[in-house]
This record gives sequence, structure tokens and C-alpha cells, in this order.
Amino acid sequence: MCGIVGYIGDKLADSVLIVGLERLEYRGYDSAGVAVIEEGELIYRKKKGKIKILREILEKNPVGGNIGIGHTRWATHGEVSDENAHPHFDCNKKIAVVHNGIIENYIELKEELIKKGHIFSSTTDTEVIAHLIEENFNGDLFEATRKTVKLLKGAFAICVISEKEPDKIVVARFGSPLIVGIGKDENFVASDVPALLPHTKSFVYLKDSEMAVLYKDKVLFFDFDGNKIEKKIERASVEIYDVDKGDYPYYMLKEIYEQPEVAERILNDKLKGDEIFFENLNLSKSFLSKVKRVIIHACGTSFHAGLVGRFFLEKFARVYTEVDISSEFRYRNPLLEGDTLMIAISQSGETADTIAGLREAKSKFIKVLSIVNQEKSTIARESDGIIPIKAGPEIGVASTKAYTGEILCLYLFSLYLGRINYVVGEEEFKRYLKPLRDIPMKIRKILSDTSFIEELSDKYHKSKDFIFLGRGINYPTALEGALKLKEISYIHATGYPAGEFKHGPIALINPNMPCVCISPKSEIYDKMFSNIKEVAARKGIIISVATEGDEKIKEVSKHVIYIPDIIEELSPVLSIIPLQLLSYFIATKLGLDVDKPRNLAKSVTVE
Ligand code: M6R
Repeated sequence: MCGIVGYIGDKLADSVLIVGLERLEYRGYDSAGVAVIEEGELIYRKKKGKIKILREILEKNPVGGNIGIGHTRWATHGEVSDENAHPHFDCNKKIAVVHNGIIENYIELKEELIKKGHIFSSTTDTEVIAHLIEENFNGDLFEATRKTVKLLKGAFAICVISEKEPDKIVVARFGSPLIVGIGKDENFVASDVPALLPHTKSFVYLKDSEMAVLYKDKVLFFDFDGNKIEKKIERASVEIYDVDKGDYPYYMLKEIYEQPEVAERILNDKLKGDEIFFENLNLSKSFLSKVKRVIIHACGTSFHAGLVGRFFLEKFARVYTEVDISSEFRYRNPLLEGDTLMIAISQSGETADTIAGLREAKSKFIKVLSIVNQEKSTIARESDGIIPIKAGPEIGVASTKAYTGEILCLYLFSLYLGRINYVVGEEEFKRYLKPLRDIPMKIRKILSDTSFIEELSDKYHKSKDFIFLGRGINYPTALEGALKLKEISYIHATGYPAGEFKHGPIALINPNMPCVCISPKSEIYDKMFSNIKEVAARKGIIISVATEGDEKIKEVSKHVIYIPDIIEELSPVLSIIPLQLLSYFIATKLGLDVDKPRNLAKSVTVE
């Protein structure tokens, strides 16, 4: 998974490419590179490290030319090194390729190419593409690329330029996203819309098995058999893709602070008086009333939101609900029957594992409803219906505002289904809607004074391990709190169901172990309290997240972070906020780049 960008027009290609790459850095930042054609010659710069290193190289050693391609890498095949940075080339460095995806049959292809005398300079899967194009080239770059893509197995979005045909960029998509940007006397291509927003608002979304040839003044579209196809130009909303960091030091902090507005936006969008309304649900009430089983699947943080969603669906709609990790779901030959609804959850809408699960369901004629933030994404486009999260762009690798947004969407959908199924009566329905309206204000309250959480981060940022415990609807909060800490601070953290802890993991507890216990007011508060006592008795350092006014919790806690009172069902939306902040403060105390943690990328577009 990586970000790719291409430009052809009158501007200096490198300046368009570098800005585009910076806007795609969320897709990976192990290495970066560009190739341009300057006065008929293919030249390139590429380097291990973040894009700012490539920018410095280009400033010191500029390239000219009005056509070029660029790449930011998240390594899959081949270590992180200068050689493995894209672009990759044919033997004579006349053809340059950038690629997002994985070529699964690259070993066989490479062996054949080596037998034919091709010399490889990297250990990537991508390099076979350049050599195959060289092998298939017979005076027509499009044809050579077309023949090549038919030999590839796996997923790819590729851009190709060659000094033999310096007036065009050839691009192809199968399984990885690719968008063509249409300009006036200039055209663009990229993995995602934000890369091109400084230049155009008009886009064409390529589908799988589609190709395009970009010239300065036109773009032609084809299928993999070489037939010309017509594509629709769509307009992107600038507002939706505003990606500035403002005065915040990191996107993650900005996004944590945006959560009250995200909640407000969701409520304004989906609540009309006392009615829940979904504009693009596309699933009739009669269909929904027959649903007997829901399968939620998602990855990472979105999976944790799904675990919270199960509580809502089973409580409000009394529908049997399973929650699966997408990468596991697809490969266990799941039972999918006609009365099942799949809910796919994804911030990016481009997560390859989630897309694969969705396609598995569609292939068995199961309806798919997606809860997605990126409304133009692959998941959104391939689903029967969508519930847009409307969180705005989430740039920080650690997902924050999308998570609380996903939970709110699941809450609303479950209530909607509960009404259809006659499980939730009118009075009860109103009772569950009422506390929703207080959510933005209550999140603001938590965010208004973070000094105590900062003090805690001061005390514990040098800890080697953390435990997060929760029960019931806040067990997913424990998982999510641990994930946030792990991914941005590199501190080992484990989330566990508090009741299960005594069945083994409690052996980990020692007097230096911070143990974050999520225990807001709930029906199982007393059970949770007993579990905390078990940890306290073994001298773990208890940091509790509890409801304002809970004095009893102090008996067992070294520190208490209070959150405002809210009904149990909505407590996960509030209890995660201090944990997001705790991770953020710990990571910044450790001097880490929280927006771009090592080894990660925002959008995981490979399986
Ligand atoms: O875009 P998605 O919601 O499909 O992404 C799923 C995960 O890759 C994502 O939530 C990941 O776990 C985040 N880094 C967590 O903060």
C-alpha cells in the first residue's frame, strides 16, 4: 500500500508531484521518489525516508520536465531502502513505473524475466512490471502495459511513463484505487482525491480492469481488452477535503478536538426531529424487517467500533450479530444466507481486507451496508447502501474522530432497525435519542481541561507495558485504548475483558504496571469493581475512567479520570476520549511523530 501520483501539462512536474505526494503521505512513508521526462530523457530521484527528504533532494538537485510520476511507499515486498523506493525501471531505464498494491505472482514472473536476460536492481514485486512492459514493448506503450497487466495476479494501481513516448502517462487499476484528475491543458492521476485538490476538482474514478492514457489535452479510457470506454467526470467537494492542520501541532490532536463537531454533524444529518433518516441507505424497510442476522466486519479501530455496534443491534433490534475481523472473515468460508445483512465499517473505504470481505458477501448475494467516512471510496461505491460518517478527512494514522463517529452511526442504525422490528417502542425510542443530543457538549467538557491526563502521561510515559480492562460495552474501549497507545507510542499494551483477566493474564500484574480500568456507571459496575480490586490486590497501578460523582472508585484507584454522566449505551463515545488523549500525550512526551508512526500507514490497501 502506497500513494501514487502523475502529472502531464505545462507546469514543472516535480512541483506538482511533490505536493501530491505530501498529501498522500498518510498511505505510507518508508521511501519516496519521482521520475520525469526532461528534454526527452527519463530522470529520477528516489530515497529512503519521509517525503521531506525527497523534497530536500529535489531542492538541491532539481529536475525539469512537464510529465512525471511519483510514489510514496509502505513496504510490503523488499526492505525499506533506496533501491526498493519507487519508481522502478526496465533494464535500460527508459520506462518508469510506480505501483500501489501487491503482485502475488512476481516470483514466477521474475524468474522467467531473469531467464530472458533481464537484470533486476531491487527486491520489490513492482520491478517485474517495468521489465514486463519492456518485454512487451513493440512501439506502443499502452499496448505493452495492457499486455502486462493481463499477466499480473494480485492488486495494483500503476502509472507508467517512457522516454520512447514522452507525451503520455499510461495507468491501470485492479484492486487498488486510482483517480484521474481532469484539468485544462493538463491532467493528473493519483491514488486519492486530496493529492490533486490544489489543481482540480474534476475527477474520474477508475474501476477494476480499467486503464487510461493521459495526454496533456485529453484522457482516453479503456478496458483491459483495449476497448474504449466512456467515463463520467465527477466534482469533488472542497469543503469535505479540507486537510489543513490549523494551529494544532499534529493532525491527531486536531482530530480529537473535532469530535464534538463530528457528533453534531452526524446528528444534524441523520436526526430530523424525532425521526432517524439515512439518505443513502438504499435498503427498504421491508427488507430490513426480514433480516435475521447481521455480520459486521472491519479492521483495527473500525473493528472495535463494530464490537460496540453488536451491543446496539442485539439490544435495540434484537438481531443476532456477529463481528469479525475482515482478514479472518473472508478465509473461513463464512455461512452467508439470504436473511443476513453485512455491515462493513471503514474510515477510508479503501482497506483491502474489508473490500475483500464485502466482495465475498456480494458474490453470495448478501446485501452490504457500509459505514464509511470517504463517501467516494471503493467500499462506498461497491455497497448496496451507505451510512456516511461525515467526520471530514482523518489524516492522523491513529483513528480518533472516525471511531466515535462510527459508534454514533451504529447507534442510530440499530435504533432505526429496532423501530422497524417493533422492538423499541415510541417512548423508549425517544428516551434513547435524548442523551445523544448531549454528546457534543459532554465531549467538549472532557476536552476543556486535559491537564490531569497530561500529568498522568508525565508519570507513566516511561512504562514498558500497559493493561487496559473493560467489561460489556466498554470492553471494546479497552481494546481501542490499547491500540491507540501501541500504535503511536510503541509501548506494549493489551486490552482485555476485565472478567477474563483472572484466567491467566493477571499474572502479568506487578507494582510498575499501569492498568487502565474503564468503569463508567453501568449495570455491571459492581462486577467491574470487583475485577479492579483483584488487580489492586496484586499492586497494579490502577488508573480508572469513571463517571463524575463516583467516589467509591477512589477506594481501588491510584488515579481517576472522570467523564460526564451518560447512559451506559453511549458511554464508549465518552470513555475513549481520555484514552486517545493519554496516548497522544505519552507519544509526544516520548518525542514521537504521532501522525506518522513507524511501520504504519493510514490506509491499508493491501491484503
Ligand atoms: O480505514 P479503515 O477504517 O478501514 O482502517 C482500518 C484500520 O486500518 C485502522 O482503523 C487502523 O487500525 C488505525 N491505524 C487505528 O488507529
